[in-house]
Amino acid sequence: MKHTINKHSWAEPYKMKMVELLKMTTRQQRIKAIKKAGYNTFLLKSEDVYIDLLTDSGTNSMSDRQWGAFMTGDEAYAGSKSYYKLEAAIQKYYGYKYIVPTHQGRAAENILSKILIKKGDIIPGNMYFTTTRLHQELAGGIFADIIIDEAHEPLNDHPFKGNVDLAKLYKLVKEHGASKIPYVSLATNVNLAGGQPVSMANLKELRAYTSQHKIRIIHDMTRVAENAYFIQQREEGYDKKTIKEIVFEICSLTDGATMSAKKDALVNIGGFMATNEWDVFEEARNLVVVYEGLHTYGGLAGRDMEAIAVGIAESLDDNHQRARVGQVEYLGHRMMEYGVPIVKPIGGHGIFVDAKAFLPHLTQDQFPAQTLAAEMYIDSGVRTMERGIVSAGRKANGENYYPQLELVRFTIPRRVYTQAHMDVIAESAANVYDKRKSIKGLKMVYEPKYLRFFQAKFQKM
Ligand code: F0G
Repeated sequence: MKHTINKHSWAEPYKMKMVELLKMTTRQQRIKAIKKAGYNTFLLKSEDVYIDLLTDSGTNSMSDRQWGAFMTGDEAYAGSKSYYKLEAAIQKYYGYKYIVPTHQGRAAENILSKILIKKGDIIPGNMYFTTTRLHQELAGGIFADIIIDEAHEPLNDHPFKGNVDLAKLYKLVKEHGASKIPYVSLATNVNLAGGQPVSMANLKELRAYTSQHKIRIIHDMTRVAENAYFIQQREEGYDKKTIKEIVFEICSLTDGATMSAKKDALVNIGGFMATNEWDVFEEARNLVVVYEGLHTYGGLAGRDMEAIAVGIAESLDDNHQRARVGQVEYLGHRMMEYGVPIVKPIGGHGIFVDAKAFLPHLTQDQFPAQTLAAEMYIDSGVRTMERGIVSAGRKANGENYYPQLELVRFTIPRRVYTQAHMDVIAESAANVYDKRKSIKGLKMVYEPKYLRFFQAKFQKM
């Protein structure tokens, strides 16, 4: 019999050369471990975790080429060869003129916020990210969410849920004046919306408007290649363009960037700040010495800069991105088959389960997402992360933010897990879903002052 198969699998464009062995645990051991961790998956010991979906940050597998480059790192204190390689890669692939390396993304956010924000400034952004907003606030700014409303609706399958609602921006400019808005904080593939992309058309409109009002666009480009993949797949006129071309075009529509290289760029540590403005660069070079290290290493070892330079190029390969997002989509489809409520469309870096829909009998004050993350761990040793009321934290006046999205993030590290691992995760989510009605909520018994989701502790109700 002749078979005609038109579909090609998303299978990986690499094979394994080294593996890391894992400890297998029993349900009893996991119940004990999560209780000890105050029902906070951040406080688990990683050796007690089977499949670690806490984050896609710094958890990637490096390639043989990256490890090769790693060995050639130039560890000079000043003027390291590796710095110039990193600078060249950023200029070539992203097009930004000036760069300052930092040990990770939030360090770049700290420096940039200090330079650009004055007390009382408004920072519009397409949904907040925890560290980004905190640095904006610590610098005296006030964050204003200008993402489209669809981004706050888990089931709305708008193809570009990361888009900016320009009407919301016009309103802010009218209310406060453009001089109060140093920049628009634009993230590509918006993390907390569920890994949702911005369209090129939207970005072009934003560019036209902000240029007219002399407002910068600062690009949180942590997951820009994943965003480019979605533009290639979904946006008219981009299906023949390469991810490399699309990423370059995105960056060309912005004035500067902060980057956590721990995501897209396929490394375990690193980041940078980039700008096209000489004055901003000069100031950043002054500040990086205070917080990170000299401007030619910014808190990184030479070998780290080497690995990032190679990782940037690998992240822009079309086959890599197809396998990367393909694996995430595979997991999402498996979970949907079991009826597990997830954010749609499926995002770039993970599956976001709608905890409000999963555990409708819990109020948001009973921390449905935190509860679900703990239950997933108990069921199978899969570690996920709360992205709901705990992550959202408190306003300056002490009140809780009550985010519309109450999600559990199943974040997929790049080039780490197999399709069989994806099956285990989906089956475990289905198990927990089957007994959802018997699951009780949590109460918070310890709350740290900043970024409470990292260290808060809970007890079962
Ligand atoms: N911006 C975005 C969109 C991020 O997702 C992160 C980190 C940062 C900035 C900060 O970068 O961690 O290198 O300092 N996100 C991680 C996560 C922590 O799990 O989503 P960093």
